[in-house]
Amino acid sequence: FADITLQDEPLAPHTWLKVGGPAQFFVEPREVDELQQIVRACHKQSIPVRLLGGGSNLLISDDGVSGAVIRLPRDNFGSFETEGGRVRCSAAMPLSHLVSRTVKQGLVGLEALTGIPGTVGGALHGNVGGRQGDIGRFIRRATVMTIAGEIFTRTADELQFGYRESSLDELVILDAELELGTGDPDEIAKRMRKIWIAKKTSQPFAFQSAGCIFKNPRGKSAGELIDRAGLKGTRIGGATISDRHANFIITDDGATADDVSRLIDLARSKVADQLGVELEVEVNR
Ligand code: EPU
Repeated sequence: FADITLQDEPLAPHTWLKVGGPAQFFVEPREVDELQQIVRACHKQSIPVRLLGGGSNLLISDDGVSGAVIRLPRDNFGSFETEGGRVRCSAAMPLSHLVSRTVKQGLVGLEALTGIPGTVGGALHGNVGGRQGDIGRFIRRATVMTIAGEIFTRTADELQFGYRESSLDELVILDAELELGTGDPDEIAKRMRKIWIAKKTSQPFAFQSAGCIFKNPRGKSAGELIDRAGLKGTRIGGATISDRHANFIITDDGATADDVSRLIDLARSKVADQLGVELEVEVNR
């Protein structure tokens, strides 16, 4: 696969935090057959494989990633079909496209996910969501590929979705079928705009970040706890705890993954010492 493999490809530009080292091998397969051949070849040679989605909830170490990092091109894996409230789409599609296309068609449910970056596959894998609900409850089935390159379908009755986690943990989610409600497009768009404005005013949108760094402890807000510990604006190297929302770390161009990790450790230990709450990291690393 020499023609589609890059060696020592910097991963920072592929992530929203824009930090971290290179991938030993970086591969962008052009279609599913090619993806399957690559995954099988890596499996045979015991080369570790990681899948890169939108890079929006991801902290890559400064040492980089050994083995192969696979990224699915957005277009070639693309499909989007609807039939009534049923939507079938490629998991490589940006979640924001899925949200806007379903809202435009008067389909109800995904407007709650407005403003969340990343791919549909990443969203399902981490069961993304917010105060208005998570994506997992809409799933009917998903096609997945295992680390050995086998493709099969998983149906809703065999899947579990929890807070920012799911049992969809195969190497690749290829596509998904969701069941949405139907409604008045204007009403849905209005609701979407409201959620969008609320997020835009409470979260640091125009900055490099990985979304919320920590999960909310049951019944509490991690952002509020970090804020109460007095950490807003705290800076280590090129990484800063956002002044707008304390559960976001924002990075400057010169930042390193180590700056971000040290800030994560600092926030965790201060919140534990001062408020007696153990925070759990949400970001993938
Ligand atoms: N708050 C503070 N200081 C802060 C941040 C928040 O006092 O620095 C207070 C707010 O005033 C509010 C409460 O904490 O009273 C909750 O804040 P917010 O409404 O912003 O929600 P959140 O619990 O911090 C969650 C999700 C977000 C999601 C929003 C909106 C988690 C970890 N976070 O945030 O998800 O966008 O609700 O639905 O579940 C993400 O997962 O990456 C993420 C950003």
